[in-house]
Amino acid sequence: MKTQVAIIGAGPSGLLLGQLLHNAGIDNVIIERQSPDYVLGRIRAGVLEQGMVELLRQAGVGQRMDREGLVHGGFELALDGRQVHIDLNTLTGGKTVMVYGQTEVTRDLMAARREAGAQTIYQAGDVVPHGMKSAETFVTFEKDGQAWRLDCDYIAGCDGFHGVARQSIPADCLKVFERVYPFGWLGILADTPPVHEELVYARHERGFALCSMRSATRTRYYLQVPTSDHVDNWSDQRFWDELKLRLPQDLANKLITGPSIEKSIAPLRSFVVEPMQYGRLFLVGDAAHIVPPTGAKGLNLAASDVSTLFNILLKVYREDRLDLLEKYSEICLRRVWKAERFSWWMTSMLHRFDDQDAFDQRIVESELEYFIGSEAGRKTIAENYVGLPYETIE
Ligand code: APR
Ligand code: PHB
Repeated sequence: MKTQVAIIGAGPSGLLLGQLLHNAGIDNVIIERQSPDYVLGRIRAGVLEQGMVELLRQAGVGQRMDREGLVHGGFELALDGRQVHIDLNTLTGGKTVMVYGQTEVTRDLMAARREAGAQTIYQAGDVVPHGMKSAETFVTFEKDGQAWRLDCDYIAGCDGFHGVARQSIPADCLKVFERVYPFGWLGILADTPPVHEELVYARHERGFALCSMRSATRTRYYLQVPTSDHVDNWSDQRFWDELKLRLPQDLANKLITGPSIEKSIAPLRSFVVEPMQYGRLFLVGDAAHIVPPTGAKGLNLAASDVSTLFNILLKVYREDRLDLLEKYSEICLRRVWKAERFSWWMTSMLHRFDDQDAFDQRIVESELEYFIGSEAGRKTIAENYVGLPYETIE
């Protein structure tokens, strides 16, 4: 088999890159370890920055998002019972975010790819990239008991944090930056109406809580729990009771509860690998970086990497701009690190850290007070939350 760009992983990164390349006439094949249903079964985040919304439209997959997605012009901070509104729209001169689940984005991208007739090989085993530093670049894999070789010009490693792409780069060529937080998020999905029309990020002495949603009838709620905790310890009743304790009274009174349709714990981690490329292999999205979910940046960073790689490849194939290839990592990392900083900051401000002493706690409280009490501070929060601009590739 032969293609121009071999894409490893059919998550949002791989599918979006594949769609943009296909539309531009650049041939690509996606190789994915799991089945489409398995990929769609993963419940992930649901807040899209304007840059990602525009990129999805550009890829031709924005119709259902524009019909069904919820445009949010702000969000709520609940600080030990007090509510502070962050008016994204006003603070950023008219910007908003789109609440539309990653599962739906993935579903739309899969449908578009099927319609376009572009090739995706699902349930591929033992995927290995080869020859990244040579002119003979290829990916080998196994499908239905048979060994395959896919020759290509470039490889996009869109295979997430646990994927093979990053692991196939010699360790001494990479620098890893990492912070593991001593807690996770216990999330539930329920067919109940949202407690509030906007997202609510709650800081509370019992721990952080988040009220999010997927639609007017489906909600996603999270609680900070210790890393050692287990979902089996959390009946639906216990979850709802604890959530009420962490929300301001009037929201707790309004909370409508119901049976959960999904419940899981995700650890919180900050992770960046530098550089995000090795010869003809480019790391995209979670394969190169992880953020704690507090700023809703994970999926959006994947989209900005995709945009960067797509625009570089476009100029490589159309204008022979091979010089741009080596710039991929530095362009991505400038934006990645800003989102890492914001996600770390939101996490630090809103979670309970058991190892903080009284002094640390006062510093955090006063930092938050300063940010929310100052127009400049609220603007800083808002411009990061709606998403920093994408760099133009020239
Ligand atoms: N071979 C082939 N495919 C693989 C391999 C492998 N060795 N390892 C992983 N994959 C596939 C996974 O099954 C998955 O479908 O790669 C895909 C990676 O998808 P994601 O983990 O969703 O990563 P990405 O596409 O970068 O999505 C961005 O940002 O913060 C997050 O929630 C957000 O998941 C989202 C991510
Ligand atoms: C979600 O809806 O899953 C969600 C929303 C905002 C976040 C994180 C997760 O910051």
